Amino acid sequence: MSTNTSNTAIVRVQRFNPDDDKKPYIQEYSLAVTRDTTILDALHEIKTHQDGGLTFRRSCRHAICGSCAMNVNGKNMLVCNTPINHHLDGKGRVTIRPLPYLPVIKDLVVDRTSFWEQYLRVKPWLIPLENVPDKEYRMSPAEVAALNDAEKCIMCGACYSACTVVGTNKKYIGPHALLKAFLRVLDPRDAGVDERLQEVGTGEGVYRCHTIFNCIDACPKNLDPTKAIETLRGLAAKRQAYEASKQARQQTLTEPVPVKE
Ligand code: F3S
Ligand code: FES
Repeated sequence: MSTNTSNTAIVRVQRFNPDDDKKPYIQEYSLAVTRDTTILDALHEIKTHQDGGLTFRRSCRHAICGSCAMNVNGKNMLVCNTPINHHLDGKGRVTIRPLPYLPVIKDLVVDRTSFWEQYLRVKPWLIPLENVPDKEYRMSPAEVAALNDAEKCIMCGACYSACTVVGTNKKYIGPHALLKAFLRVLDPRDAGVDERLQEVGTGEGVYRCHTIFNCIDACPKNLDPTKAIETLRGLAAKRQAYEASKQARQQTLTEPVPVKE
C-alpha cells in the first residue's frame, strides 16, 4: 500500500502587481499535496489550474540555477527542493514571500540588480597568472580544502537578502560577493589577490559585516560566508599593514640625509 497519501495545503502567497496594486497583499490558495510535492510544484499547480497571473522565477528544478530562492515562513530557501509538507503549520498553511530587502518586480520576482552590481565589484572571474603551466594547473588537496566548498555557491541570493546589513546599507558588498572574493583570493592560480583585497578591505566590504550569521542560516548549500569574511578581513588587515610599512619606509628614504659636520 502506498503511503504517499494526499493532504490539503493552504498556500499563502504575497501578491503585488505594480501596475494595479498600491501595496503587497496575501492571497490564499488551497490544493492537494503529497509528501513528494515541493513548494515549487505547488506554485506551478496554482499557476496552471487556479491563477495564471501568479508570477515567480524558476529554471532548473534541481537546486542548481539559484533562480527559485524565496522567503518561506520567514526563511530564505530554494523552493524547488523543499517539500511543502515540511513547512505547513498546524492549520496546514505556508506563507511564501519574495526575497526580502530587494525591490519587487511582480509577486515573487525581485529585482536583483544590486546583487549583481556588488558581485562584479570583486571581479568574480579567475585572473590568470602570467606564467601558467603548459598542462593543467594542479592544486594540492590542502589548497582545495582551504576553499571550504566556496565554489559550490549557486548565486541564488538567499544569503544576500537575509543579511540585515544589506537591508540597511545597499553599498555593502554582501556575503555572496565576499564569499566569491574569498574563493579567488585563496586560489593559487589567481593573479588578482591584491586588487581584490583592496576592494573588499573597506567599510563597504569586510569591515561592514556585523557577524549576524543570517547568511549561514539561509544558504541552501550549507556554505559559510561568515568564516570567509573573517579570513578576508585578516588578509586585508595584513595587506594594509604591509602597505603602511612600505609608505613609512619610503617616507624615511625621501627625507633629506643629515649633513655631517
Ligand atoms: Fe550579513 Fe552574514 Fe555578515 S548575515 S552581517 S554577511 S555574517
Ligand atoms: Fe533552479 Fe530552484 S529552480 S535552483
